[in-house]
Amino acid sequence: MNDLLNLIKDRHSSRIFFDPNRSIAKDDLHKILEAGSWAPTAHNMQNFEVLIVDDKKLIEAIADLKMPTSMTFIKENYKQLSFSEKDLLQKKTGVLGTMFPPAWTKPNVKKADITTDDRGDFMQKELISSPVLGIVLYDPSRRAPASEGDFLGIISLGCVMENMWLMANSLGIDFHIVSSLSNGPAGKNIKKLLNIPKELIIAYSFRLGYAVNKNNKYLRVRRDVEDFMHHNKYGAKHERN
Ligand SMILES: Cc1cc2nc3c(=O)[nH]c(=O)nc-3n(C[C@H](O)[C@H](O)[C@H](O)COP(=O)(O)O)c2cc1C
Repeated sequence: MNDLLNLIKDRHSSRIFFDPNRSIAKDDLHKILEAGSWAPTAHNMQNFEVLIVDDKKLIEAIADLKMPTSMTFIKENYKQLSFSEKDLLQKKTGVLGTMFPPAWTKPNVKKADITTDDRGDFMQKELISSPVLGIVLYDPSRRAPASEGDFLGIISLGCVMENMWLMANSLGIDFHIVSSLSNGPAGKNIKKLLNIPKELIIAYSFRLGYAVNKNNKYLRVRRDVEDFMHHNKYGAKHERN
């Protein structure tokens, strides 16, 4: 059981360059997808398809697509940033500001301040370095019965994500979720490029690979159980013996 908890705690985001010459073994890729297939989904609707892209030219074409970051993202992102490890350790949620281009980490940032989208540039290089890009497609026709807005179906896609992520990390394979390929013009172009039927929606993408720099640990924080667990009545705190 401790092994499982350790595996869960060790799972991490690999926002780094992968070795483009080190491919993912077919057996390992199969295990990752098989782990995804055993995820719980609402009503067992298995409302997803996974498109695996390992053709270098296609990955380059995807990386070449313009993916401008919205001001909504930049503004909402700013609100939850921490500007030091001490601050992040205190907050226990969110991420460090150093993950983002300096312009994104200023208060009241305006569109005119975002002259170069360094993160976009970086993202492009990260994408190109990936031997495998997975694209998870949401099939709204396999909706969870009576679930408003298919809320339960959308949660199911997260369960698939976690299973694949845990399997990949347990095999020593780095995994990085990329949301920016899902929406806007980039999403539209990817659908065209990869023949994705129009009724399917790109839920999220993930990069798989082996980190070039193994020394890529960064501070990861979580709330303590006592911070979010309520006992019998909301607001009543749980005492750990
Ligand atoms: C639905 C979802 C979308 C995410 N999108 C991105 C993303 O676009 N880019 C990224 O670098 N990380 C993305 N992440 C990863 C989270 O930022 C990450 O899990 C969180 O900061 C905790 O860090 P950890 O994964 O190392 O534990 C996403 C995670 C989830 C669950």
